[in-house]
Amino acid sequence: MTNRSPELQHFIDSVQNAILASDGLPEEARTVAGHIYGALAEREGDHKPNEPKRQPVCNHLPAAYENARKGPDAAIQLGEAFAAIEPLLAWNPKPTDDPVFRANHANAVIVGVDGIEQRYDARIGVSLVAPDTIYPDHNHPPQEIYAVLTDGAWRQNDGPWRKPGLGGWVYNPANITHAMRSYETPLLAVWSLWVKG
Ligand SMILES: [Fe+2]
Repeated sequence: MTNRSPELQHFIDSVQNAILASDGLPEEARTVAGHIYGALAEREGDHKPNEPKRQPVCNHLPAAYENARKGPDAAIQLGEAFAAIEPLLAWNPKPTDDPVFRANHANAVIVGVDGIEQRYDARIGVSLVAPDTIYPDHNHPPQEIYAVLTDGAWRQNDGPWRKPGLGGWVYNPANITHAMRSYETPLLAVWSLWVKG
């Protein structure tokens, strides 16, 4: 453990803490978090700086940070830890044919392929969505836990929209269809995926 910067380590610790501190986290999600954060504690990936890149939606970052500061302690700490590493990140929109959605969201990978710490077992990143925008249905094999820093909502399959609230969690089992949406404030959330499972 010599190459990971203190700022990146603090961010990783803050995501883990936010997930484990959230109320009612299902046992399955706790196990997935154990795999992800156990692997990160055991071994570092290769450190490969990105060419930092922002997108138009990044103009909403200050409002997203302000919102996170209203949260419980774990959310406040995670918002600050993320803000410290954000200037190192390459933000990109998800491939889409919808120009409105393209202009109103972006993702940045922190740990994993294309992240600032390259590795193949786990993937941690963030999504930022402008106010009043739906990030449409998608799915992926890795199990996923979101640490929520927003008033936005999540949906699984055809279920109702659920608002986890600041400091809350979302757990997506493998391949489940899921979507998320913002309301008056931007949506900021940190996702952790167990890719190796
Ligand atoms: Fe997802």
